[in-house]
Amino acid sequence: MRIVVLVSGTGSNLQSVLDAIDAGDLDIDIAAVGADRPDTYGVERAAAAGYETFVVNFRDYTVRADWNRALTEKVASYSPDVVLSSGFMRIVDEHFINTFAGRYINTHPALLPSFPGAHGVRDALAYGVKVSGCTVHIADAGVDTGPILAQAAVEVLDGDTEESLHERIKVQERRLLIETLRQLSTAGIPSIPQR
Ligand code: GAR
Repeated sequence: MRIVVLVSGTGSNLQSVLDAIDAGDLDIDIAAVGADRPDTYGVERAAAAGYETFVVNFRDYTVRADWNRALTEKVASYSPDVVLSSGFMRIVDEHFINTFAGRYINTHPALLPSFPGAHGVRDALAYGVKVSGCTVHIADAGVDTGPILAQAAVEVLDGDTEESLHERIKVQERRLLIETLRQLSTAGIPSIPQR
């Protein structure tokens, strides 16, 4: 299974995927790692590990649809079976979603459909939930929406900060992500009826 990974930030979840590949625990081929902005640690990690990287800088485009098109073409040029959003913090449009329909996978640090968006951990904490968690799902054109592939619950502890809770969630998120990629690489992408 060839995958392209998209990141916007530190890429710690990506690192766990790279480590699983190195350890022989995950048999997938990362064709490239790309970002929507320059100088992300995620891209730096991938380059340091010898993977091909690219940037389609959102700020280089005045028209959002042009950025979407450029990103779609760049990702498609690697002919991926699966595209993984691993902390990729941009909404992609229908053109991108249709090009990789059912093959665009996202991870999110909350139990979707609760608390979508860029601040899932902060929003869950602010709401006062006692249990949050993470979700791996097939992404559609919405914000963190689409058929759910896997979820894990994480208890919110007294005194948790956004950082402490996010770190515990990421432990589960990494496990779930690697398990899901392993399953996709062996059994393929499940056909999930649309709700
Ligand atoms: C992850 O927790 C991921 O779920 C989240 O960004 C973090 C990236 O961490 N994504 C979203 O919030 C998407 N809505 P990382 O860069 O250290 O892997």
